[in-house]
Amino acid sequence: MDPQALETEARSAIAGASTVAELDEARVRYLGRKSELKQALREVRDAETGRVLNALRRQLEADVDERQAALERAELDRKLTEDVLDVTLPGEPRPRGHLHLITQIRREVEDIFLGLGYQVVDGREVETTRYNFDALNFPVDHPARSPLQSVFLNGDVLFRTETSPSQIRVMESQPPPIYMVSLGRVYRRDTPDATHTPIFHQVEGLAIDRGITMADLKGTLLHMMRALFGEEREMRFRTHDFPFTEPSLEPDVSCFLCEGRGCAVCRHSGWIEIAGSGMVDPSLFEFVGLDPEEWTGFAFGMGLERVAMLRHGLPALGLLWENDLRVLRQF
Ligand code: DAH
Repeated sequence: MDPQALETEARSAIAGASTVAELDEARVRYLGRKSELKQALREVRDAETGRVLNALRRQLEADVDERQAALERAELDRKLTEDVLDVTLPGEPRPRGHLHLITQIRREVEDIFLGLGYQVVDGREVETTRYNFDALNFPVDHPARSPLQSVFLNGDVLFRTETSPSQIRVMESQPPPIYMVSLGRVYRRDTPDATHTPIFHQVEGLAIDRGITMADLKGTLLHMMRALFGEEREMRFRTHDFPFTEPSLEPDVSCFLCEGRGCAVCRHSGWIEIAGSGMVDPSLFEFVGLDPEEWTGFAFGMGLERVAMLRHGLPALGLLWENDLRVLRQF
C-alpha cells in the first residue's frame, strides 16, 4: 500500500463528496473497518509506518469532519433560500363570525334607549295568562287567548305572545319613574309566509312618570325612527285599539326608500306601518297598585324583523331564520 497515493485518492474523494450519503460512502471506503488503511494499521510492525499511517488516519478523519460540516452548512443555506418562510407575511385569515342581523338591531335599539337614560330589562319568554292577558286588560273573549292563536304549555302557562307583559313585571318590581325597554322573542301560531314566522322579536318600551303626555310619546318614537331609518324621517299617527293603551296610536314612518313619493315598500302611500303605541291604560296602573291620578305613561311595541326587512329590503322573513350563511354574511 502506498500511503501517498492513498492520501491523494482518499482526500479528493472526501473533498469531492457532494452529499452526506456520498461522504459516508467515502468514509466507509477509506476509514471503515475493512478499509485498506485500517487493515494496514492492524498489520503495522514498525513505529515509523505506524506513525505515518496514524497521521494519515487523523488527516482523513479531520477531512471527513470538515466536509461533513461544510455539507451541513450548504444544506442549511439551501433550505434558507429555497424553503423561504417569510415571517413578515400576513397569516392566513381565519373566518370570523359576527352577530346575527336581529341581534345587531336589538343592540342598536337598546343603545338608542340607553342613550335616553332608559334601562334595558329582561322579560320572560314563558308567561302566565295573568301577565300576558289579564293584567294587560285583554277581554276574556279576545282571540289571542285561544290555543289556536297562542302556544300554551299547560292551562294558563304559555309562550308570551308579545313583550308587553314586561310592562307589568317592571311596574310591579320598582316604583316610578320608570323608563325601560325590553326586547326578546315572542310566539304566535302564525302560518309562516313572507311576513310571518311563529317566533319573532319585539321591543317593548314603557315610560311612567308624573305629567307624561302624548307629546313625550311622539318625541321619543320620532327619535327612535330617525336613529333607525335616517334623520329625514317624519312620522304620523293613526288611531288604533290596543287593550293596554288608551288612546292607542299606530305610528307610521315616512318611507325611506321613496322619500314619501310612493313605492312598492310603502304600497304607494309614502308611509310605512311600523309599530303600536299609546298612553298606558289606567287599568294597568290599578293592576299594579299605582295611582292613575298621580302617574301617566306611554308604551310602544315594535317588531325587530320588520325593521330588518325594511332596512335591507329583505323579500321574506324566513331568510332571517334559515341561517343560510350566504344571506347572513351580507349583514
Ligand atoms: N303588544 C303589541 C303587539 O304585539 C304591540 C304594542 C302596541 C305594544 C302598543 C305596546 C303598545 O306597548 O303600547 O302587537
